[in-house]
Amino acid sequence: MTTTVMRSRMGRMLCGVDAPRASASSDRMGRYELQEAVGHGGSATVYRALDPKHSRTVALKVIPFGGGEKSGRRFLREARVLASLKHPSLPRVYAVGRSKGRLYLSCEMLEGENLETALKSGNVSLERSVAAVRDVARALAYAHRRGVVHRDVKPANIILCADRNVLIDFGLAKRLSQESQQITRPGQLIGTLPYMAPEQLLPKKFGEVGAPTDIRALGATLFHCITGRAPFKARRDPCEVLLRIVQEDAPCVRDVAPDAPDALVELCRSAMARYPRRRIKAAELADALDAWLQDRAALAERSRAPTERNPVRRHRASRIGRRLRVVRGALAVATIAAACAIATYQAGPWGKTATSDPAAIATDDGSSPFRNAHSSP
Ligand SMILES: Nc1ncnc2c1ncn2[C@@H]1O[C@H](COP(=O)(O)OP(=O)(O)O)[C@@H](O)[C@H]1O
Ligand SMILES: [Mg+2]
Repeated sequence: MTTTVMRSRMGRMLCGVDAPRASASSDRMGRYELQEAVGHGGSATVYRALDPKHSRTVALKVIPFGGGEKSGRRFLREARVLASLKHPSLPRVYAVGRSKGRLYLSCEMLEGENLETALKSGNVSLERSVAAVRDVARALAYAHRRGVVHRDVKPANIILCADRNVLIDFGLAKRLSQESQQITRPGQLIGTLPYMAPEQLLPKKFGEVGAPTDIRALGATLFHCITGRAPFKARRDPCEVLLRIVQEDAPCVRDVAPDAPDALVELCRSAMARYPRRRIKAAELADALDAWLQDRAALAERSRAPTERNPVRRHRASRIGRRLRVVRGALAVATIAAACAIATYQAGPWGKTATSDPAAIATDDGSSPFRNAHSSP
């Protein structure tokens, strides 16, 4: 479906032409049966809901329509942007509508925890969170190629699912080619402060918001994954944070986490560079994180015991072990025999006879080494 078609259909829906009819039941939005709230964002509540028409569970993002024309347009834009993007790390959008004075967006229900919650609970390994950042970097590379910038990348907008990681919340996304349709006014801040880039605060000095803006936010997310906190502490005075973002280089991961892996420290530094043109590109970041994850997995594999790792080696190891046991056993028997021999030689008459018989000891040519001794007087 082209963007134009999508736009006009969405527009009709919001005007009520295609809007699902409101139901009498309070736990319904149009045809959707609300089951439970699964998340709250800055503007929306997201519900798990049943779509009886397609017999599927959906995520229903709901905002009050009284929130004003601007939030309505943002909502529409989120639906349009998502409808134009298809990637495993982006949610699929199904429909938008209006019911009971509220707008809703129905999209794929993602079963999983958001990265912010997971980091807070300490429920996530470094590898798992780095894999999430890698997947989001791939999704951003895809969106950037299509001229879409997200503008609010942060842990709360990343969902960790069992088989993939998904970047949600395209409410603030903008199409780079559609400057004229900009919904925000000059001077208005768009984004989440600790993850924001200098150009979002001071475009006159740092240039327009673009693909590198998302990279800065993703670098700050990676920083959070490694150190357990955002690069600029949210509890500080927001004005101070704002000044530090535009005046200073982002803090170094090492200052907060001295043992952080070198490669990740360097990638954070490159993604969070103060000037947008110095930042790494999304695709390069994804590849570099993937390489780090593969090295890490290979290292873990090597450090595992050979018996766990490789059945061929395990077989060989057990064969070698058996041989060693046999050799050790033989050596033990020989040692005991030698000890007995020495003991009997020292102690008993027959032992003495056996070892003192010169004929019993042969040389290579069969001659007796004691021959001369015998022949000697
Ligand atoms: N498709 C989805 N599947 C499951 N949970 C979701 C989905 N979309 C959003 N959520 C949950 O709802 C929260 C708020 O959603 P979000 O789209 O970020 O709203 P806002 O635009 O208000 O920030 C998210 O952090 C997440 O936990
Ligand atoms: Mg959000």
